[in-house]
Amino acid sequence: MTEQNTLTVRDNRTGEEYEIPITDGTVRATDLGQIGRAEGTPGLAVYDPGFTNTASTRSAVTYIDGDKGILEYRGYPIEQLAEKSTYLEVAYLLIHGELPTKEQHEQWVHDITFHTFVHENLKSFMQGFRYDAHPMSMLMSSVSALSSFYPEASRIKDPEVRHEQIVRLIAKMPTLGAWSFRHAQGKPYVYPDNDLSYPENFLSMLFKMSEQKYDPDPRLAKALDVLFILHADHEQNCSTNAVRSVGSSQVDPYSSVTAGIAALYGPLHGGANEAVLRMLKRIGKKENIPAFIEGVKNGDEKLMGFGHRVYKNYDPRATIIKKACDDVFEVTGVNPLLEIAQELERIALEDDYFVSRKLYPNVDFYSGLIYEALQFPPEMFTVLFAIPRTSGWLAQWLELVDDKEQKIARPKQIYTGDRQLTYVPQSERWA
Ligand code: SDX
Repeated sequence: MTEQNTLTVRDNRTGEEYEIPITDGTVRATDLGQIGRAEGTPGLAVYDPGFTNTASTRSAVTYIDGDKGILEYRGYPIEQLAEKSTYLEVAYLLIHGELPTKEQHEQWVHDITFHTFVHENLKSFMQGFRYDAHPMSMLMSSVSALSSFYPEASRIKDPEVRHEQIVRLIAKMPTLGAWSFRHAQGKPYVYPDNDLSYPENFLSMLFKMSEQKYDPDPRLAKALDVLFILHADHEQNCSTNAVRSVGSSQVDPYSSVTAGIAALYGPLHGGANEAVLRMLKRIGKKENIPAFIEGVKNGDEKLMGFGHRVYKNYDPRATIIKKACDDVFEVTGVNPLLEIAQELERIALEDDYFVSRKLYPNVDFYSGLIYEALQFPPEMFTVLFAIPRTSGWLAQWLELVDDKEQKIARPKQIYTGDRQLTYVPQSERWA
């Protein structure tokens, strides 16, 4: 490698040569824009559907090495955080960029705990949904409605105001998620219990019935907290890209996070965990796996929970979740679908169709088995993804707001439609 960090590009249409600087392994698309401009063309642009090879931002929040299966939040390996930290401490780390002191942690936990309540008008709003509304639809709508309760949130340049909204969103997501769940079950909404920890309070709002005080199983609360840590952030994934794109218009954080929830809802993204459970149930028994695999190869099926845009190795989160299965099943009993999932994984990891495409289990492949064992219906699985991802989305949104390089997201296109047609009035067209 020479020390020259430039690209010499020759435009064979004109014979012109251009020196393009290489910075951090990228060339700036705007530098390519000079190519051809002198000759009266609009200048070269980059065409990259789905942004498969395009960096949209600089970020210090999360580092992923897809080939090595590495995931770090603010430089800390996910394995260490999952084993030794808590979700609220990880949320602090993502948002503030460093681990909290004792005092900072106590203040953070206090602030989050005392913002878990939601305005009674929002509760009435949620009760207006059909009895069988999908919890993700309710969550997306109620987070969007939150922006109407805090109009000051539009003051995105004010650090105090930003912090207040970040605390509110992290605090209220479990409440809104749990109420969406209770609504679908036709059960009364349970108010937050501020004596409980973040995961314990979530379990209480989900499962408390007539008992005076919900008594959460600490093993299940711990497993949920680890799952929250694993789902907290993942650099520029589809939903984070949505949060940043919408946030680039300088709208309030509730509206930006709503865009993230909408993107996460899709079966190719956060909705995959729900799709995995439906897939495993559809396969039904190990004997049906070979036929299903054939269906995948013929393009009639997709092996949900497998594959990743970045990981071309085992998703490190899947490894940890697989271990967490054992802890949860100790309490709940083994999920019978685990055997099908393990056999599916064994076959896929040996089959050239998957190996050649570097398709490995991702975060969604095993998480649904735990959620089902915890008595969550599949419709709730993506809600369980959105709740912890809120801290990651907000950490990324904060970076966006303060990033001097960022502008409103407005990509180019390659136009393929008609041009300069003559309009024929309806009277003539329909005569
Ligand atoms: C998440 O980006 C993130 O970080 C996301 C996430 C996060 O934390 O935010 O990690 C969370 O979304 C995890 C992914 C969950 N989605 C699924 O499990 C759905 C199943 N997976 C695929 O749809 C797919 O793998 C994606 C969407 C995850 C990635 O798609 P890419 O990068 O666009 O890859 P591709 O679709 O171009 O696939 C490359 C090849 C294709 O085959 P060919 O056209 O070359 O013949 O692999 C095939 C695909 O058909 N392929 C699959 C497959 N995934 C890819 N074939 C069968 N089953 C699959 N799951």
